[in-house]
Amino acid sequence: MEKTYLEMIEEASAFLQSKVKNIPEIAIILGTGLGDLINYIKDSIAIDYKEIPHFPVSTVEGHSGRLIFGTLGGKRVMAMQGRFHYYEGYDMKQVTFPVRVMQHLKVKKLFVSNAAGGMNKEFQVGDVMVITDHINLFPENPLRGKNYDELGPRFPAMTEAYSLKLISKADDIAAKKGMRLMHGVYVGTPGPTFETPAEYEYFRIIGGDAVGMSTVPEVIVANHAGMEVFGVSVITDLGGKDIKEVPTHEEVQKAALKAQPNMTSLITSMLEEI
Ligand code: HPA
Repeated sequence: MEKTYLEMIEEASAFLQSKVKNIPEIAIILGTGLGDLINYIKDSIAIDYKEIPHFPVSTVEGHSGRLIFGTLGGKRVMAMQGRFHYYEGYDMKQVTFPVRVMQHLKVKKLFVSNAAGGMNKEFQVGDVMVITDHINLFPENPLRGKNYDELGPRFPAMTEAYSLKLISKADDIAAKKGMRLMHGVYVGTPGPTFETPAEYEYFRIIGGDAVGMSTVPEVIVANHAGMEVFGVSVITDLGGKDIKEVPTHEEVQKAALKAQPNMTSLITSMLEEI
């Protein structure tokens, strides 16, 4: 008989519990070109996604697809190196499956990072932007369909999808470090096309500061699961009416790589202080 979604979550969770003694309460999802943080995780054990029951396997270039357990900033963490994108063809239940497994493992805080295109005219390539809120433009909500009441409410509030406490902690740390840290609204789109100039403009007009092809599904599920969420975007390109540069995946990866030290330092310090 085909397994239910809940059974699949339980099996993946049981597998990880059999492999890792001390399951952390903090999880990190690392975006395109932002996997370097992994190198700072101490005493780590890595588990390939393909070993974990029911885990999708990530396909996109620049993602290796491993779950890392270890210590960062003095805290036990679980980090996803590589995420599942809607544009790869996964459905929303697959995209957000790892977050459900985290929930089953009793993860309380989720840190997410991504590469994003900037529409805010103050932004520069290489900026790190704390996500203060998002606009969901994916064609489907990951919570569509049967609601499992044991996982969360049918109609969850999204009023503080990104924890104000964690945002303010990030601001304090950035001020102390003298680090330029932007704030903004992340627009989540299905991709895989980058935006037309008119689309970047449209996203800016509706209240967006940056746009990307991930994060929103995971953050919706994390909120449904009652987790506290912190998100950062690395601005890897700029888009809008007057911008002539053409974004490419290579460009995005290169810019992400350059901004990594700032992002790594911010997240590590946050872990030290929470
Ligand atoms: N648009 C969408 N996704 C992105 C972009 C962008 O400009 N840059 C990095 N990811």
